[in-house]
Amino acid sequence: MEQKFNIGAIGLRRSIRKYDRSRPVEREKLEQLIRAAMYAPTARNLQPWQFLVVTDRTLLDRIPEVHPYSLMMREATAAILVCGDREKDPSDLYLVQNCSAATQNILLEACAMGLGTVWLGVFGRHERMDGMSRLFALPDSVVPVSLIAVGYPMEEKPFPQRFQPRLIHENRFGNIWEAPE
Ligand SMILES: Cc1cc2nc3c(=O)[nH]c(=O)nc-3n(C[C@H](O)[C@H](O)[C@H](O)COP(=O)(O)O)c2cc1C
Repeated sequence: MEQKFNIGAIGLRRSIRKYDRSRPVEREKLEQLIRAAMYAPTARNLQPWQFLVVTDRTLLDRIPEVHPYSLMMREATAAILVCGDREKDPSDLYLVQNCSAATQNILLEACAMGLGTVWLGVFGRHERMDGMSRLFALPDSVVPVSLIAVGYPMEEKPFPQRFQPRLIHENRFGNIWEAPE
């Protein structure tokens, strides 16, 4: 049976891959997205990141040359490359976690602002990392982690059923969670 529950704004976010090409995202809104990113938690509060905002049509159109699953960039009117900054934190230990928290903040803020986004994985795929570094002339200390396509949405998606109580364990792995009444 389909369960309905309220998980607030998080429940409204979905990956959007179709955008209105004729409606650029305003600069204030792009800045607001970066502001949201910079309020993400980071290990030791080092905030070891850099954000590259892509608004140039030619660059957006070239992203699929360096990322195989990014054709939606040809419709997106902006993109944000979230990068780790090894100058601020050379350890690398929490580079991915820090940047992922920032990435999710951007997705949620964008959703609250009526914008569509999709998270594209970059970190760990060396050809994508090298491609992004070349395309955006990143210095060696700046490590691309995720790329976010941004635009005014041209598609709507239904709320998916994802909650699976059997994946929750209480106190000891295997002790299944008993749902609250
Ligand atoms: C680390 C990561 C990498 C992803 N990479 C891609 C990608 O390369 N291309 C793409 O279209 N979507 C990508 N996605 C989006 C997922 O496909 C999407 O989040 C998933 O299908 C769930 O759908 P939802 O975001 O609408 O809830 C990625 C998501 C994450 C978290």
